[in-house]
Amino acid sequence: MQFFCLELFPFFVLLSVSLSFLVCIGESVIKLPGNDTIPAVFVFGDSIVDTGNNNYIKTIVKVNYPPYGQDFMGGKPTGRFSNGKVPSDLIAEELGIKSLLPAYLDPSLQAQDLITGVNFASGGAGYDPLTSDLVSVLSLSDQLEMFKEYIMKLKGIVGDERTSQILRKSLVIVVTGSNDVTNTYFGSPLRKCLYDIPSYADLMVSSGSSFVQGLYELGSRRIGVFGLPPLGCVPSQRTLKGGLTRKCVDSYNQMSELFNKKLSAELNLINSRLPEARMIYLDIYYLPLDVIHNPKKYGFEIANIGCCGTGTIEVAFLCKYTCSNVSEYVFWDSFHLTEKAYRLLVHQILKQYMKDFICEKPFC
Ligand SMILES: *[C@@H]1O[C@H](CO)[C@@H](O)[C@H](O)[C@H]1NC(C)=O
Ligand SMILES: *[C@@H]1O[C@H](CO)[C@@H](O)[C@H](O)[C@H]1NC(C)=O
Repeated sequence: MQFFCLELFPFFVLLSVSLSFLVCIGESVIKLPGNDTIPAVFVFGDSIVDTGNNNYIKTIVKVNYPPYGQDFMGGKPTGRFSNGKVPSDLIAEELGIKSLLPAYLDPSLQAQDLITGVNFASGGAGYDPLTSDLVSVLSLSDQLEMFKEYIMKLKGIVGDERTSQILRKSLVIVVTGSNDVTNTYFGSPLRKCLYDIPSYADLMVSSGSSFVQGLYELGSRRIGVFGLPPLGCVPSQRTLKGGLTRKCVDSYNQMSELFNKKLSAELNLINSRLPEARMIYLDIYYLPLDVIHNPKKYGFEIANIGCCGTGTIEVAFLCKYTCSNVSEYVFWDSFHLTEKAYRLLVHQILKQYMKDFICEKPFC
């Protein structure tokens, strides 16, 4: 049985995915009823949302060099895994809180930055602790420890009472899982030997469940958890497993869908158990799939390769040159979306789910 597990694994696909698009940039969709506010945003997860934490840790999973950031504040590489802003920034921007969500590890952070929210995400991380370990990045438990430290600092700045109010009202977003599926599960023999697809999806969901309950214990209430995108349609996976025509890989998409179903059910269960929880499953499967199959409908031209390099396999340091017009592309590299695509996705998510975060039990 052992040799069955010795399938070769392409280890260069380190990072993370997600998908999306653009509708009306700059138009805030968020109007809260009564005096309700969202005072801050906190983000946990992987390279879809990392805004530079990996610049400050010892790992090879870094993108603080060109062409990353070519469209960010005049071409500044900051460790964001895209040409411009990433979803963590775009969520804070669209909520009218601030235009960028700073990395918690950035040594130049000021007190004011802490009050309106920070980002704990680390490119390469996963629900499975092994995923983060393999590439020496911040695991979800590391990120939760950093959040505890953050809360102590916030108490020092605004006091205990205001801190618990900020935690209760703010929006927490969790975005991870892609690396577990593409790198740890399908990309290596390490887990496939021990887990079939449903049991590995259970392992991921169980880790996510403990994580969001940990956030609740620390005082967070409004918690949105992204599902998985159609991972089989990411350019790198099409190249590796999609055959000569680079088709979307069905088995990967099926795993995304299975995980999403289990995650969504688990979050509903937590909501029914924890009195004040507003834990919301945020779907990023169906819209991205439609954009990939019908890019023109959303203002894109190309959705089966990324903008950097040949677009078929390059990520991070393998990205040496870029396409001539990034606005035509859904994918920036073979794993991550362009800012334009992220904008479309974030806009849609906030429009669709915001009401679920702010409604008060028992009315929702
Ligand atoms: C809004 O806040 C004001 C002042 O604290 C209060 O008088 C009012 O009742 C609040 N309105 C709602 C809808 O909660
Ligand atoms: C770049 O692509 C976008 C989207 O397809 C298009 O609107 C724009 O005109 C293109 N720009 C150039 C210089 O070709």
